Amino acid sequence: MTGNRYLSGAFAPVTEEITAYDLPVTGRLPAHLNGRYLRNGPNPLGIEDAATHLWTLGAGMVHGVRIRDGRAEWYRNRWVRSTAVADRLGEPRRGTPVDELMDISPNVQVVGLAGRTFALIEGGIRPYELTYDLDTIGPCALGATPQGYSANAHSLFDPRTRELHSLAFRYGSDQVQHIVMDESGVVLRATAIEVPGNPYMHDFALTDRHVLLFDSPVVFSAAHLPTGIPFVWDGNRPARVGVMPRAGGAVRWFEVAPSLVGHTLNAYEDGSEVVIDVVRHPEGFDIRDVGTSRPTLDRWTVDLTAGKLREDRLDDRVQEFPRLNPRYSGRPYRYGYTAAVELYAPPAGPGDTRPDEGFSNALLKHDLLRGTSEAHEFGRYGAVSEGVFVPAGSPTAEDDGYVMAYVFDPERGATDLVLLSALDFTGEPIARIHLPVRVPLGLHGSWVPGDEREVPRYALAG
Ligand SMILES: [Fe+2]
Repeated sequence: MTGNRYLSGAFAPVTEEITAYDLPVTGRLPAHLNGRYLRNGPNPLGIEDAATHLWTLGAGMVHGVRIRDGRAEWYRNRWVRSTAVADRLGEPRRGTPVDELMDISPNVQVVGLAGRTFALIEGGIRPYELTYDLDTIGPCALGATPQGYSANAHSLFDPRTRELHSLAFRYGSDQVQHIVMDESGVVLRATAIEVPGNPYMHDFALTDRHVLLFDSPVVFSAAHLPTGIPFVWDGNRPARVGVMPRAGGAVRWFEVAPSLVGHTLNAYEDGSEVVIDVVRHPEGFDIRDVGTSRPTLDRWTVDLTAGKLREDRLDDRVQEFPRLNPRYSGRPYRYGYTAAVELYAPPAGPGDTRPDEGFSNALLKHDLLRGTSEAHEFGRYGAVSEGVFVPAGSPTAEDDGYVMAYVFDPERGATDLVLLSALDFTGEPIARIHLPVRVPLGLHGSWVPGDEREVPRYALAG
C-alpha cells in the first residue's frame, strides 16, 4: 500500500504479462461475435516518484480478449514497448523512434484499422503498431504529417466515407491539424488550424458537414513538462467551440462556460443547427489529476444561422467515457453509454479500514430522445472501465447490441469481461468471461472484429 490512490486498489498496476487460453464463461457468448476486445491504459513499469504519481502516467498496457464461435479463446496483456519500456524489460528495441524525446509508450487508446492494430496517444507522440497477439512491432507513421503531427488517440472513423479523421494538437505549437486518412491509414490531406496558446484538445467531433474543435482554458506549460502532464488551467482564457467545414475554411468560434471537454459522445447536423453531446469538466479541478473532476453529460446546440450556442445539461450524474453505436457516429442518434464515476474518499485515518477502491462502478445507458437513463450497477467494489458498444449480428434497432467492459469481481479477486445486452440494460449480463487476473482501471478500447490481419503490413512503418 503506497498511499497513492493511483498505485493501489482498482488502479494498482499489474506486474506480469499473462497469456491464458479457453477462458471460463458464465452465460452465453453471441455466436456471431468474432474478434478482439482490446483496451489500453497506463501501467507504470517503475514508479519514478510514488508521492507525485498520477493516473494517466506510465507505459501503456493493452489487455485483450479473443472471442470466436461462442468461446473466449485467449486473454493477453502486453506493455507497449517504447524504447524506454524495451530497455527496462531488458529486451531488444522495436524499431527506431523518429524523435527520442517524443518516444512515449502510448497508453490512451487501441484501435484496429485495415487488419492492423495500433496503440495511440496524442500531442504529436507517434502511435505504435502491435501484432494481432498484442506484441509490439514498433513506432509507426499512422497519420504522420511533415510538421510532426500524428493520429490522435481520439481519431474518428466515418463509416460513410470510410475515412479516418484526427484532430491533432502538438506540444508547443499554436496550430492543430485536421488529418484525414483513408481506411488503410494513408494520409489524404491535412489542414492546419491556428489556435493560439496551445490548448489541450483531447477529443473533437465530426458531422456530415463539419469538424468541431474544443478550445479550452487548459494550455500547454513547458514548466510542467517534468511532471509528465504539461498543462495548466488559465482562468483568463475562454472555452470555445470551433465549427469548421469538413473541407477546411474559416472556423466560426462560439464561447461556452469555462470548461474542458473530456470526450465527445456524438455530434450531428439538424437543419441549420449542429448538436454536440459532450462530457464536460467544469473549471475548478486539478488538471493534472482527472480524478478530482466531476464531469457531466451536456448538450451544446450551435445555431449557425443565428450565430448562437445554447448549453443544456443532459445528465448531472458524474460520468465519463461516452460511447455509442458506431454506425450512428456523426448522425442523429438516440442512445449513448457512459461509465458513472463514483469517487470514494481515501481512508480518513488509521481507524478507517475502508479501502480506497472506487472510481467507476456503474455503466449508464442514456435515451436522449426521452431524456432518461438506466444504470447497471456493479456494486461498491465492482470497478468498471469504459463500455464499448458492439452491434448485434443482424440488428433491428440502434440499441440492439452489447456493451462490453472489464469489471472487477471482488469475490474472485479478478476481472471479468462483461457483456450487457443494451436492449435489457439493467438485466443480468448475457455473458461474463472470467479472466485469471485483475485488469486495472484504464482508459479507452475497441471491439476489433475479424480473424487475422486482413492486409499485408505496408507503407506506414517508419
Ligand atoms: Fe480520452
